[in-house]
Amino acid sequence: MGSVPANIHKPTNSTCLNRCHVRAGGSPGGKQRDIDLTMENPPRTLDVHLSASGANLSCLSCHKAKNHRIAGRGNDVRETDLAKKIACADCHGAAPHRDYDLDAHTGRVDCTVYHIPRYARGPNPTETHRDARRAKSDPATLRYEPPRVFASNLVPEYLFRNGDSHFYKFGDPVQLQPNGRLLLTGPLGDIREPSAKRSLLSNPTRPGWGTIRSPGASCR
Ligand code: HEC
Ligand code: HEC
Repeated sequence: MGSVPANIHKPTNSTCLNRCHVRAGGSPGGKQRDIDLTMENPPRTLDVHLSASGANLSCLSCHKAKNHRIAGRGNDVRETDLAKKIACADCHGAAPHRDYDLDAHTGRVDCTVYHIPRYARGPNPTETHRDARRAKSDPATLRYEPPRVFASNLVPEYLFRNGDSHFYKFGDPVQLQPNGRLLLTGPLGDIREPSAKRSLLSNPTRPGWGTIRSPGASCR
C-alpha cells in the first residue's frame, strides 16, 4: 500500500498520449489527427505549443483540469467534462496581433482557421473514411474491421460553429438533414448566429470527425 501514493501524480503528456489518446480510433493519429507519440517531443514546426523549443506546454496547460474533470472537447464527444472552454485568448488575449485589421476578425473567425492551414502533418496518416457496410473479419487482428482510408497533410474544411455538438441517441425521432441523411454526430452552428465563429474541421466525411487541436507552424 505504501507505494501507491508515491505513484499518484498529475498526468504528464506521456500519460495522456500513451494511456489513451494515441490509440483512439485504432491507430496513432488515426482518429485524433496529429495526436501521436511525436507529440512527446515535437519539433517547433509541427507543434509550437508542445515543442521544447516553442512554448513547452503540457496537455494540461490548455486542457485545464478541476476535480478530475478536464476542459476541452471534440465534436464527437457527447458531454462537456468541464463547462470552461479552452480559448486561445486565455493566453494570447482577444487582440493578439498588434494589428487593427487582423484583430478586427477575431470575433467571427476562430484563430485555428488561420493558424492551422494543414493537419495530419506528422509521420502517421489520419483516417478520412471508413465503410461499415463492408466490414470483414481480419485474421491479423482477430477483429471485425471495416475498410479504412488514410491520408496525410490535409487542408481542413470550414464551417460556422457555435461550440455545441449534436449526438443522435438511439430512440430519438429520426430527422433527416436537407441532404437526406441522418446526422449521427457533428458540430452545430449557422452563419446567422452571432456567437457562431468560422471554424475548421478535419473531415466531415467520416464518422467521429473532430476539431483540430493545436497550431504547428507559426504565422511568420
Ligand atoms: C496555455 C497558454 C496558451 C494557449 C491556450 C494557446 N497558446 Fe499559442 N502560444 C503560447 C505561448 C507561450 C507561445 C509562445 C511560443 C514560442 O514562441 O516560443 C504560443 C505561440 C503561438 C503561436 C506562434 C506565434 C509566433 O510568433 O511564432 C501561434 C500561431 C499560436 N500560439 C496560436 C495559438 C492558437 C490558435 C491557440 C488556440 C487554439 C493558442 N495559441 C492557444 C501559449 C498558449
Ligand atoms: C495550445 C493548447 C493545447 C494544447 C497544449 C493541447 N491541446 Fe488538445 N485541444 C486544444 C483545443 C483548443 C481543442 C479543441 C477543444 C474544444 O473545441 O473544446 C483540443 C482538443 C483536443 C482533443 C479532442 C479532439 C477531437 O476533436 O476529438 C483531444 C483528444 C486533445 N485535445 C488531446 C490533447 C493531448 C493528448 C494533448 C497533449 C499531448 C493536448 N491535447 C494539448 C488545445 C490544446
